[in-house]
Amino acid sequence: MDLELSETQKLIQQTARDFATKELKPGAFEREDKGIYPFEELKKMAELGLMGVNIPEKFGGVEAGVVAYSLAMMEIARACASTAVSMAVTNMAAEIINHFGNEEQKQQHIPKITSGEYPAAAFALTEPHCGSDATALRTTARKTDRGWVLNGTKQFITSGEHAGVTICWARTSGQGAKGISTFLVPKGTPGLSYGPEERKMGLMASNTVSMIFEDAQLPNEALLGDENLGFSVSMVALDGGRIGVGSQAIGIAQSALDEAIFYAKERTSFGKLLAEHQAIQWMIADSATELDAAKLLVLRAANLKENGKPFTREASMAKLFATEAANRICARAVQIHGGYGYIKEYPVERYYRDCRVTTIYEGTSEIQRMVIARSLLRG
Ligand code: CAA
Repeated sequence: MDLELSETQKLIQQTARDFATKELKPGAFEREDKGIYPFEELKKMAELGLMGVNIPEKFGGVEAGVVAYSLAMMEIARACASTAVSMAVTNMAAEIINHFGNEEQKQQHIPKITSGEYPAAAFALTEPHCGSDATALRTTARKTDRGWVLNGTKQFITSGEHAGVTICWARTSGQGAKGISTFLVPKGTPGLSYGPEERKMGLMASNTVSMIFEDAQLPNEALLGDENLGFSVSMVALDGGRIGVGSQAIGIAQSALDEAIFYAKERTSFGKLLAEHQAIQWMIADSATELDAAKLLVLRAANLKENGKPFTREASMAKLFATEAANRICARAVQIHGGYGYIKEYPVERYYRDCRVTTIYEGTSEIQRMVIARSLLRG
């Protein structure tokens, strides 16, 4: 793996960094505090190409690849993790349509995602009774003369209410992984409604809702990929999504470490700076080392995906390590701040909360371990 970034990768990283520093970070506290969805910010990010980093130019993407996408995600998450998760799911949805869609489906939705005409796109696999055990989903899609009729409920859908299109999984026959199909559900679909916004521990400026399908009507063309073979679509999507969440965790942790270092060089105790105490130095050293290791794992997975090589196991390893390391790094940053780390005015309080979900969504740490172990033990 070449550790030197290409000119394109540097450009995307710098573009995301400039935007994050100048436009995203200043309003992050207020958006979080008041639960304001970043409509304006996401639109500007689309104009900068950040809603289609790994999407072909002919659909409005910047075709910069997976490593560039990961680098951009780290930068956005450094400033605002809520905006980062909205960006992550939107890019993932665009990639799924690009990978599995027919030309008409691609033309219909991808340019609207990459241009920001759709404020976001969403991914609806989880249901109230099943998250990790995704093949146990109960939402049904029944074929009719005019298309499909969907019934069921999807839970914890990021940007669900604002998404121009949601990629949704439903049972079309059989049991288990077989007989699940993938559908493109546009906003405004008759029979689709949304539950109230979830009140979460963190990521307050992101939108998380349930999606309720009551005889929701979809045309024949809503089917994405092959009928009954949709479960693999979700798995392929999540393999890539896990690189995004690992990158997001790295961005949050980087900010937490920066704040911890800044504070350690300002605050004194026992007659010297915190930074001069070995106990603090070791925490900072551990955090920096784990952060670098996380970056290397995430970039390796991104590099494999970019080069068309198998990357399922490496994406799970990257997500597992990066998100767990990020939680440790954020916890240490709070610890270094002492009582102030528990106070809202200090950003580490937010990083600690925002980071928590990264070991849960897009596959818990336990699921990542399952994927890693299965791939090692299979052969
Ligand atoms: N790529 C392609 N196909 C895959 C695959 C992959 N990475 N992993 C599995 N499959 C296929 C298998 O080949 C199998 O197909 P066949 O039967 O034709 O061989 C089928 O999928 C079922 O696989 P398993 O037998 O391994 O199924 P399982 O039920 O034992 O385990 C699982 C599957 C790995 C646990 C899976 O259910 C999983 O990843 N669960 C976690 C779900 C998850 O991550 N949810 C996140 C929600 S989205 C989210 O959080 C977004 C957000 O808002 C931020």
